[in-house]
Amino acid sequence: MENVEFDSSEIEYVSYGGEHHLPLIMNLVDQELSEPYSIFTYRYFVYLWPQLSFLAFHKGKCVGTVVCKMGEHRNTFRGYIAMLVVIKPYRGRGIATELVTRSIKVMMESGCEEVTLEAEVTNKGALALYGRLGFIRSKRLFHYYLNGVDAFRLKLLFPRTELHPSLPLMADKYENHMQSDQGDTPFK
Ligand SMILES: CC(C)(COP(=O)(O)OP(=O)(O)OC[C@H]1O[C@@H](n2cnc3c(N)ncnc32)[C@H](O)[C@@H]1OP(=O)(O)O)[C@@H](O)C(=O)NCCC(=O)NCCS
Repeated sequence: MENVEFDSSEIEYVSYGGEHHLPLIMNLVDQELSEPYSIFTYRYFVYLWPQLSFLAFHKGKCVGTVVCKMGEHRNTFRGYIAMLVVIKPYRGRGIATELVTRSIKVMMESGCEEVTLEAEVTNKGALALYGRLGFIRSKRLFHYYLNGVDAFRLKLLFPRTELHPSLPLMADKYENHMQSDQGDTPFK
């Protein structure tokens, strides 16, 4: 598929804004992730944690999304990234990094001590992206997905940034975005 010519400043990032965003999220995730999700799963995430889900738009078209949650887990308050998708013509331009960084920032501000997710062991793109953000592989989960593929559980720990040098980098990156970004974000 052809890549689309665009300037990064043309991408608008918005946090989940209501039911009209739900079909956009479902459409993207259904197209791009192997695991099938029911509407109840989507609603569970976006109704309970709307502030953790973001969509990326280019000229009115939804081109990427991230869906997350957070809560208590074995005495740890932790964030969880459930779904992350950018459509093919828009990949490789930092959109997923921006989406996921926004969610992680809200998780940090909300008191999360760590963030986790699962990714297929074969998903080089996702593993590279999360590796660059400082996530480590904490477990291998055998036949985790319905398609039989194993998963890595990935984990990002806060706030001991001395152990995760990419965290301050992430924060710097975010600061730079905040200075140049025209998007509709809840953090302004
Ligand atoms: C994974 C995905 C979300 C990445 O989206 P993206 O917008 O292209 O990601 P970014 O542009 O922010 O990538 C940032 C970094 O991730 C890594 N990366 C992303 N895609 C990659 C690929 N196909 N191969 C290798 N590295 C990749 C690189 O380290 C990249 O850094 P760079 O810009 O210095 O090269 C996208 O490929 C996608 O939607 N895939 C299908 C759904 C999916 O697998 N979701 C993740 C489930 S865990």
